[in-house]
Amino acid sequence: MKRQKKDGTVIDVSLSISPIRDDQGQITGIMGIHRDITERKKMEAEMQRLDGLNLIGQMAASIAHEIRNPMTTVHGFLQLLEAKPKLLEFKDYFQLMIEELDRCNSIITEFLSLSRNTPINLRMQNLNTIINKLLPMLQADALRNEQVIVAELEELPNLELNDQEIRQVILNLARNGLESMKAGGTLTIRTFLERDHIVITFCDQGSGISGRILESIGKPFLTTKENGTGLGLPVSYNIVYRHGGTIIIDTGSAGTTFFVRLPIKGQHLV
Ligand SMILES: Nc1ncnc2c1ncn2[C@@H]1O[C@H](COP(=O)(O)OP(=O)(O)O)[C@@H](O)[C@H]1O
Ligand SMILES: [Mg+2]
Repeated sequence: MKRQKKDGTVIDVSLSISPIRDDQGQITGIMGIHRDITERKKMEAEMQRLDGLNLIGQMAASIAHEIRNPMTTVHGFLQLLEAKPKLLEFKDYFQLMIEELDRCNSIITEFLSLSRNTPINLRMQNLNTIINKLLPMLQADALRNEQVIVAELEELPNLELNDQEIRQVILNLARNGLESMKAGGTLTIRTFLERDHIVITFCDQGSGISGRILESIGKPFLTTKENGTGLGLPVSYNIVYRHGGTIIIDTGSAGTTFFVRLPIKGQHLV
């Protein structure tokens, strides 16, 4: 059941009804108790999201396997043809084709890493350093659409991170922010310390995420974009979750902020 609170927010409630009896056991009234189960609902949604991530991992593993086999055959024949003296004039083409296949292979490897249960290559490092390295590329993306990125990075302690994976999270969330805005918009990336967490926020000036999308956000292949994959968020959720962190969304008609929290001490790596 859903109920609207006085302040207008809609909450999930469970209703239990029990009869009120007098001394003789006659029913004299009925008592109903509404319980706010919004938190429980949120938890259930979170569990479903994680189930979805599991599915994507399994799918990735089987697709990767199916794709790799024919690719290996093509790779082999290309190498064979490349070595033929008769085809010497096409050597450059063959090399390019082989390189492109190698690239596909490494994309598959990267994608497969998402189905693993433990983060690989954890290293003590600074989140700000990773962001600073990515900024020029993101600024170039922004500039192309006449948008601006502002970075406000406070001093942070080092953390055990897989920089490849964290890079992916930053790129995904920053790009989503840029894609949500028209020309002239500003995306603000902040980092700061909050008790025992490091927080990184991506604050855009887009038009927000509609309730319908928000309900399913993070599910694989959910996209509202013509050329979207719907994989950016599920992949990011997975990575942050495996670093022991959380992603929280605050959205409204003036824009959306994604909060990524990573624990400093006692990172439980899942
Ligand atoms: N900052 C944002 N502002 C508005 N909508 C967003 C934002 N980030 C994500 N979304 C919504 O979530 C969907 C899924 O995002 P994502 O998983 O990155 O896939 P994609 O970007 O390929 O569509 C997007 O299509 C969009 O509708
Ligand atoms: Mg995206």
